[in-house]
Amino acid sequence: MDLFEYQARDLFEAHEIPVLAGAVASTAVEAERAAATIGGKVVVKAQVKVGGRGKAGGVKLAVDAADARAKAEAILGLDIKGHIVQKVMIAQAAPIAEEYYMAILLDRANRNFLVMASVAGGMEIEEVAHTQPEKLARVGVDPNVGISQELALEIVKAGQFPESVQSDVAGVLLKLWAAFVAEDATLMEINPLVKTEDGQIIALDGKVTLDENAEFRHPNHEALIDHASANPLEAAAKEKNLNYVKLQGEVGIIGNGAGLVMSTLDVVAYAGEKYGVKPANFLDIGGGASAEVMANGLSIILGDQDVRSVFVNVFGGITACDAVANGIVQALEILGDKATKPIVVRLDGNNVLEGRRILNEAAHPLVQQLDTMDGAAAKAAELAAK
Ligand SMILES: Nc1ncnc2c1ncn2[C@@H]1O[C@H](COP(=O)(O)OP(=O)(O)O)[C@@H](O)[C@H]1O
Ligand SMILES: [Mg+2]
Repeated sequence: MDLFEYQARDLFEAHEIPVLAGAVASTAVEAERAAATIGGKVVVKAQVKVGGRGKAGGVKLAVDAADARAKAEAILGLDIKGHIVQKVMIAQAAPIAEEYYMAILLDRANRNFLVMASVAGGMEIEEVAHTQPEKLARVGVDPNVGISQELALEIVKAGQFPESVQSDVAGVLLKLWAAFVAEDATLMEINPLVKTEDGQIIALDGKVTLDENAEFRHPNHEALIDHASANPLEAAAKEKNLNYVKLQGEVGIIGNGAGLVMSTLDVVAYAGEKYGVKPANFLDIGGGASAEVMANGLSIILGDQDVRSVFVNVFGGITACDAVANGIVQALEILGDKATKPIVVRLDGNNVLEGRRILNEAAHPLVQQLDTMDGAAAKAAELAAK
């Protein structure tokens, strides 16, 4: 789960990483009030989960509360790389002397964590990585060992920070590491980490990704979920404990097992080329595939306005094909009139003949069976194109 900047700021504050006063606002009036509370010059910042807000006009300095209101009015509703701004953060303005960069991330390929730090931070960090890679320290951190004071200082030196700030920046890195571990993050980035004119080191922008696999350890993370901009189908699926991802396409997909569903997406995408149709979603109903789970899955998919046909691709294993076929029949009974789109079923595996017999006997008008995955994918694509 990615956090908004204001949520990252709050999280940093909770872990004693130095930040400035900040408050979130959804209207210009709220922004004015927040600016008045903070006092003095403030920065009005678009809260969208995408980088490069500064360059896109989403970060503006305001000299006082009235100006903050005007700036908020200009930023709210802005489209930044496809994200509509619905909230702004009002942040105390920092007198910036220098902008640095610091990040910790999960390095999956190396089964490790990676720390990056650079004296040359700010809006051009990707540029720095390309043109002056010597200014960007990249140091692997063993998860079993963590970051010691010595290593923190080493990293800061490698990032070419001036001697006068090395100890403070290393201190922030240690705090960031502690926060990263405590919150089960996969990314924590500060860009810019600034030195102010009076020599303080402060995090001005934060990017945080929390590991959803660890959410059971963090009941407080639930409050960070952005329900407003979640896809309504994905939210409904999550409520039913379904593994569902909405995609841009017309063929609804249900399968059992993530690997099978992934390859189903591939064959449908391939078969659909001819008709200009694509898979509409990923949905793995898992090993059980009971009638209830099947009904939940079907109802999510049939609720998708874009879906014009459904492909149910099941390989019977521990839950054999006859149980799955019964599940489909009962699911269609549960759904009744709500089932409105053609459904192509391909069953294979354990007890396949009995499964096919059950579906044939039920002879539901929307359901047709095909024996092969390719054949069924082609049929589902063809029906979606009609
Ligand atoms: N609180 C602040 N005070 C002063 N300047 C700021 C403040 N927040 C951001 N800035 C300036 O705006 C730039 C862009 O803001 P940032 O929050 O990093 O957004 P993004 O990374 O999305 O462009 C920063 O590099 C910094 O120069
Ligand atoms: Mg930034």
